[in-house]
Amino acid sequence: MTGDTESMTWKDGRLVVPDRPVVPFIAGDGIGPEVWRAAREVIDAAVEASYGRERAIGWIELAAGEAAAARGLGPLPDETLEAIRLHRVAIKGPTMTPVGRGHRSINVTLRRELDLYANVRPVRYFEGVVSPVKNPEVFDVVVFRENTEDVYAGIEFAAGSEEARRIESLLSEMGFTLPESSGIGIKPISRGATRRIVRAALEYAISHGRRRLTLVHKGNIMKYTEGAFLEWGYELVREEFAGRAVVVPDLPEGAEPPEDGIVVGDRIADAMFQDLLLRPQQLDVLVAPNLNGDYLSDACAAQVGGLGLAPGANLGEGRALFESTHGTAPDIAGRNIANPGSMILSGSMMLDHIGWSEASRRIVGALEAVLRSGRVTPDLAAGRRDVHVLGTDAFAAAVVGAFARRQ
Ligand code: NAI
Repeated sequence: MTGDTESMTWKDGRLVVPDRPVVPFIAGDGIGPEVWRAAREVIDAAVEASYGRERAIGWIELAAGEAAAARGLGPLPDETLEAIRLHRVAIKGPTMTPVGRGHRSINVTLRRELDLYANVRPVRYFEGVVSPVKNPEVFDVVVFRENTEDVYAGIEFAAGSEEARRIESLLSEMGFTLPESSGIGIKPISRGATRRIVRAALEYAISHGRRRLTLVHKGNIMKYTEGAFLEWGYELVREEFAGRAVVVPDLPEGAEPPEDGIVVGDRIADAMFQDLLLRPQQLDVLVAPNLNGDYLSDACAAQVGGLGLAPGANLGEGRALFESTHGTAPDIAGRNIANPGSMILSGSMMLDHIGWSEASRRIVGALEAVLRSGRVTPDLAAGRRDVHVLGTDAFAAAVVGAFARRQ
């Protein structure tokens, strides 16, 4: 690469991306280094195929996970956090959280420390992949999951603890009686966090030409948390997106939604799980609080054939961390058989995020071509005779080869 690398910056609410941005990466543990190596090869080749020598990524490696702990650095060194803060956009493979008391999950810590409040999971079907449903090809959904609060806020008290007893007595003053020996968890959902996740989802929907946004909630049961999520979400749409989005309850009786602009509706979470199976073609961008968003993301991925081809991103104000959605798969690590698809697509999503959409699209197109031609990694080949099985490296080479032919 020629020319100096520079950090991306954040100016007037926009990411400013130089032609040679520094992008930190965490290769990860288990299969992480294998799938990362494959993805990096694909990302670099896509950038070169799209922009020649005009643009290139200046990668820097950051330590995290087991690999970092083994070097005596602790699972998430401060320098790693600082580098992501500084360079703004980063990508990571799966990391192992060392087992034992006191170790918080690296992903949870990264999300919290960097205030990455939106977990984004686009899920679509790729022809050539076995799916458990009859018409997987109609599935093309993006899940925005709130990342910072809800029952994941970590406010929990063990049954019988001093804290639990104090809360029990407070509740009893308010006229509520808990069954004896109750563990207690608190479910905070705030207006601020709701507004920013809905705003992020709407901005994504607008910039990606999506038509519908659905707020998924259990507001019929949990009125002041999940129900408030719906109310605050609609309020945000009315206040900030008038003319660009319309809220379904505001449409006149019997009126068709407008041709342009985003139609924002809502669905109770349990009905949404039915819709995923029965009416997936009507779903587009979904936005949900943390717990329901967690379930929804994996249910969506399962419908198109598993986590192997679902990319992920965690977005914050002027910061973004892209990551594969599977774990470290210790059972297959080091054997060059892991599917690098999720990591490759996370890279494509990162390129799209920084505005390098041509390179991003090139990766998706090439991956489509490779899978369609029946070239797959062993996880996608189980029980099939009609496929040609490739190892991790060969799969990445096939993807790169597919965009060479497309030029
Ligand atoms: P896992 O996703 O690592 O593995 C579940 C199953 O899927 C295994 O049979 C594995 O071989 C297979 N698998 C996963 N990714 C694959 C790929 N790319 N290609 C082919 N097969 C693949 O989940 P598990 O076993 O629950 O977790 C293992 C470790 O990963 C744990 O230490 C966990 O903490 C960590 N983990 C890390 C995540 C992250 O960093 N984002 C996410 C989930 C788990």
